[in-house]
Amino acid sequence: MLPRSPATQAVGSRSSAGAPSLASVSGSAPSIDDLSGDPHPHLARLRATSPVAWVPALRSFLVTSRSAAIEVLRDPATFTVDDPRFSTAQVVGPSMLSLDGREHARHRTPFVAPFRPRQVTERFGRSVDAVVGRLVGDIVDVGPDLEIDLLPALAGPLSAAVVADSLGLDGADPLVVGRLLGWYREIVGSVTGVASGEPVTAGGAEAMADLGATLRDHLDAGDSLLADASGHGGLSADEVVSNAAVVMFGGIETTEGMLLNAVWHLLSWPEQLAEVVADPALVAVAVEESLRMEPAAAVVDRYATRDLELGGASIPAGAPVTVSLAGANRDPAEFADPDRFDVRRPNARRHLAFASGPHVCVGMDLARLEVVTAVRALLALPDLRLSTDAPAPTGLVFRKPARLPVRWG
Ligand code: HEM
Repeated sequence: MLPRSPATQAVGSRSSAGAPSLASVSGSAPSIDDLSGDPHPHLARLRATSPVAWVPALRSFLVTSRSAAIEVLRDPATFTVDDPRFSTAQVVGPSMLSLDGREHARHRTPFVAPFRPRQVTERFGRSVDAVVGRLVGDIVDVGPDLEIDLLPALAGPLSAAVVADSLGLDGADPLVVGRLLGWYREIVGSVTGVASGEPVTAGGAEAMADLGATLRDHLDAGDSLLADASGHGGLSADEVVSNAAVVMFGGIETTEGMLLNAVWHLLSWPEQLAEVVADPALVAVAVEESLRMEPAAAVVDRYATRDLELGGASIPAGAPVTVSLAGANRDPAEFADPDRFDVRRPNARRHLAFASGPHVCVGMDLARLEVVTAVRALLALPDLRLSTDAPAPTGLVFRKPARLPVRWG
């Protein structure tokens, strides 16, 4: 997703202007490497001692308990995304991602109905089945016992094709998907540059202009989710394009991670895998449980609008506040034995992988449809297993295995 949040706003590149100069609340504050590798023991320690802690390496207050995370996410008047330090709006223009209050509602409302579960199933059920069928068919064609990396073979092309379809472009056409990914890379690169004080790149501006021109052509003709949203009437054409760019970012990196993490969890816990293979109705819970264990977007960022106390910390107005969704999702106050992957966990869906409150992920049911469909199709392959050198998920903001080599048969 975009460098707001769940963001590629690498902590090192966040402008330090306005960051309070505070001593670390915790004696052994985690480093960026700690949080990018296996953050869970560090998050557990912080949660137990100081659930809201100033973490110098992040230059932000880090929230690790589920209750404090929910407090932040559901109170946009106190914890805002509408702050010039977030660079997204400078590249894509104002969108639901960078606004709060009434303006946020005006930008987001047109997208809510077309992304509801029933509409998603009606609009995308068949095309998701078709893309998954084609990609898993190619995996079968590779043949048994040969290594296949599921990132380029399945997760990448599936998420890009579905986003293309949702914008009214032809997701079955590799050229169209290639163009979409080109815009995606240029705009993400530009937003990341702006976050570290550079001007908007020419490539970023050009990509936004191309995306806008292409979408406008398709909007008038098309029957797409985006056309439905723009027909709602509340947004100008430029605003529709800005929000479409946000949908594009929202749907690619995170969905790739969600799928790879789900497969990685299942193949790493053989007894849980056996239960799901025996009862495919468990796939949907297994996917929620994977989102709990390793949310593909591990953190989201806000700024405090006033001086306040939270979880024992004094937060000054203007301070950055980073909500660790990964930390909240393993809070033992909500989830018993939180480090265990359990495909029968009764409250798995109470995770915060899609955030909560007014900015809760608008595309979550589409992402669920894609990932559940793909996992079902993969588990139909006999003896699917990880290659011995398959890496675990890593990443500070976005978490997924860098590659996911598997074999079947
Ligand atoms: C089809 C796929 C997806 C689409 C189209 C999509 C789209 C979006 C959009 C447009 C927003 C902004 C909502 C707002 O600010 O009001 C958003 C927020 C969010 N999305 Fe998604 N998303 C998708 C998949 C995912 C996945 C797979 C994850 C993680 C596993 C995810 C995590 C989030 C989170 C955490 C937020 C909240 C950001 C915040 O509160 O700062 N999304 N998504």
